[in-house]
Amino acid sequence: MMQTHFTRLVGCELPIQMAGMGGVAIPPLVVAVCRAGGLGMLAGDGSSPETMQRLLDDVRSGTDRPFGVSFLMPYLREPACVDAAAAAARVVEFFYGAPDAQFVERVHAAGALACWQVGSADEAQTADQVGCDLIVAQGVEAGGHIRGQIGLLSLLDQVLRRVEVPVIAAGGIGSGRAMATALAGGAAAVRVGTRFVAALESPAHPLYVEQLVEARAEDTEVTEGFDLAWPDAPHRVLRSAIEAARGAPDEVIGANHDYFDPRRSSPVLRWQVLTPTVLTTGNIAAMPLWAGESVNFVASRQSAAEIVRDLVNEAAPLLAHGFPCADSKPDSRIGAPFSPS
Ligand SMILES: Cc1cc2nc3c(=O)[nH]c(=O)nc-3n(C[C@H](O)[C@H](O)[C@H](O)COP(=O)(O)O)c2cc1C
Repeated sequence: MMQTHFTRLVGCELPIQMAGMGGVAIPPLVVAVCRAGGLGMLAGDGSSPETMQRLLDDVRSGTDRPFGVSFLMPYLREPACVDAAAAAARVVEFFYGAPDAQFVERVHAAGALACWQVGSADEAQTADQVGCDLIVAQGVEAGGHIRGQIGLLSLLDQVLRRVEVPVIAAGGIGSGRAMATALAGGAAAVRVGTRFVAALESPAHPLYVEQLVEARAEDTEVTEGFDLAWPDAPHRVLRSAIEAARGAPDEVIGANHDYFDPRRSSPVLRWQVLTPTVLTTGNIAAMPLWAGESVNFVASRQSAAEIVRDLVNEAAPLLAHGFPCADSKPDSRIGAPFSPS
């Protein structure tokens, strides 16, 4: 229905890529997005090839559709994790480090497509030069860690002039209108993060989801505050989380349990980089509640399939019939018929 360079290359039905999201992008959510026609992205484990393989097996047991794996460069300690991911996934993606030909070659050697999420046109050009098959252009509206400094439309425009490969637009895309705008502007797909955090299949902590549902775009803020284990890396969160962390009386604010062995847990420290999930206990409000400006469109807890359907149902007619530019509200002065007094 919405075929693009992205859907043809990757082999999924719709030009929607779920964002790889630490703590949230676990197999059940990945499978749900794939089944809904998008490209589900598994948060890669960069320290243990065995754990990486177990996660890959869990995804494979839920779907035979194409999916991707995303790695955060600051946490990628075992390159063999990339080999395992590339042997099982259609797309292997990297973020938060200079595009690197060695990793792209590893991905290609195992038969997958290589992708890099970038925050500037220069970085996009480097990703293209080192052989990436896809590039994600991430605007500053994005939730979580932010690589660049400018808004998505401006970045997309610059990146599309510099590279030939399909470009995925990321940052602040929470509605079908935003999706259609990015596709009409030349993106081959959109990347959606915050909306999927609130999906029924997401493991995000219920209090985190509740706050996403209540928040507007204006309630997010870019900070470098949550920097424990990952300094000098700006990120967008709900402002309430920064305030709660500042006011937290203790340095240990909770505990986090292991995904494969929930009996094992480790303490959560104030300002620690960690996504609060159902496996997390303690002062959830003071943990980094990552959120993009797209949070405006998180109105309730929906299944991944419903989120995908909402986006497509709004985007498809806009793309097919053009964007109405006149405001049709009866009380609007703009576009109202001229009536001489
Ligand atoms: C909860 C959360 C966790 C994230 N974790 C990661 C991550 O581990 N790796 C990554 O590449 N991007 C991560 N991001 C950023 C996304 O890749 C993407 O750029 C962003 O979600 C797009 O903006 P949106 O949230 O407004 O849709 C995260 C975003 C969120 C909301």
